Amino acid sequence: MKIGRLTLSDRAARGVYADLSGPEIDSILANAFADASPEITSRILEDHQPDISAALIEMADFERCSLIVTTGGTGPGKRDVTPEATCAVVEKELPGFGEIMRMQSFSAVPTAILSRSIAGIRGTTLIVNLPGNPQAIGECLPLLLPAIQECIKHLNQA
Ligand code: MTE
Repeated sequence: MKIGRLTLSDRAARGVYADLSGPEIDSILANAFADASPEITSRILEDHQPDISAALIEMADFERCSLIVTTGGTGPGKRDVTPEATCAVVEKELPGFGEIMRMQSFSAVPTAILSRSIAGIRGTTLIVNLPGNPQAIGECLPLLLPAIQECIKHLNQA
């Protein structure tokens, strides 16, 4: 099973700071999909919408990833364009992913509602946006795993 992980951050892409969220995602997914011997391919890109959309298309259509998880670029800032880049390439949106992340995180982290994370389907690939804060990965991704696993099953049914 192939999984794509995309970290979106101007500063991490330029080496200003280390990408801590990406490896955290890799480790959660490697555990969750251990039975499927996952092959995780990862990239770090600056917050540039056309490049993000192009990377999502490449990972979905050419690298044949069943799942792509992004981190970062979901906030209200001028450079935050991950949801727009995702929206531009998915055929169907799955609003529940963003809704549950914001709802579940809100009581502990009131700023969680600043994330505009979305999820959707391109062909047989599920794409899920996560916020960029390394702490947010552990707060959000485990919650989503049952729905991610079920969705991948549905996408692979003939
Ligand atoms: N969600 C959780 N669970 N934990 C967090 O620390 N940070 C919030 C929000 N969602 C956060 C969170 C903040 S402060 C912002 S600005 C947004 O995610 C967007 O972050 P991003 O632009 O790095 O994706």
